[in-house]
Amino acid sequence: MKIVICPDAARTRTLAALVLAKQVKTKPTSVLGLATGRTMEAIYARLAETSKQQALDFSGVTTFNLDEYVGLNADHPQSYRYYMQTHLFQQVNVTPEKTYVPDGAAPDVDAEARSYEDRIRQAGGIDLQLLGLGENGHIGFNEPLSALNSRTHVVTLAQATLKQNAEMFDNDMAQVPTRALTMGTGTILDSRETLLVVTGETKAEIVSRVIEGAVSALVPGSALQLHPHCLVLLDEAAASRLTQREAILWQMQHDPELQELLTP
Ligand code: GLP
Repeated sequence: MKIVICPDAARTRTLAALVLAKQVKTKPTSVLGLATGRTMEAIYARLAETSKQQALDFSGVTTFNLDEYVGLNADHPQSYRYYMQTHLFQQVNVTPEKTYVPDGAAPDVDAEARSYEDRIRQAGGIDLQLLGLGENGHIGFNEPLSALNSRTHVVTLAQATLKQNAEMFDNDMAQVPTRALTMGTGTILDSRETLLVVTGETKAEIVSRVIEGAVSALVPGSALQLHPHCLVLLDEAAASRLTQREAILWQMQHDPELQELLTP
């Protein structure tokens, strides 16, 4: 893992958008793995801005989203398809047919999960997978205790997740769908590069378990310790419980790849 601690959340998001923009510039036919959640909104806003300023070309890019609620149609305002259309796809010149989000309204969700895996494979695999972190350590919707080598599958969401995401459903946990389709942790680990972005004090404890704890199905994000190219971007608040701060700062100052990223 390579870890960057940024002074604040705004800088963390700007850096994340920079990494994504660089990927598109370097490889205009990139396959991007995308995430949703509040953390990602500002990242997509920055990316859309950069795209306009620098005339980034997304037309050759293929995207695969991590997850989707089961039972929500694409036009449901809380569906992740709707979220992606609003926050990114309508803001850049992406080719609509090259954007994939699992279909939560599919009549056979297990078949949809299998075909999603096939589509990722047919696209040549994911070059860069963007990830947020749930307060319970989930990545995508891989909840605690789910298999670390899982593929795209249907999950029952944890109560902690329903609680965390209720804000988007009129603060009413009962409105949050209880099942979702998600790329598996194994699918995520197959990506050539992973980018985990976490901000805020509420995630400090889980961040320390993801980065410094044992690799465990109890904390699905900890599986990223096994990924050979994982970049983690944190703000000071999210990094506040890490014990290895000195080692991380040393690496930030001496690692050529991080230096290139951090030098304006
Ligand atoms: C949802 C998504 C996750 C994301 C998480 C973080 O649960 N399924 O992929 O990591 O939200 O959300 P937030 O950024 O709002 O804290």
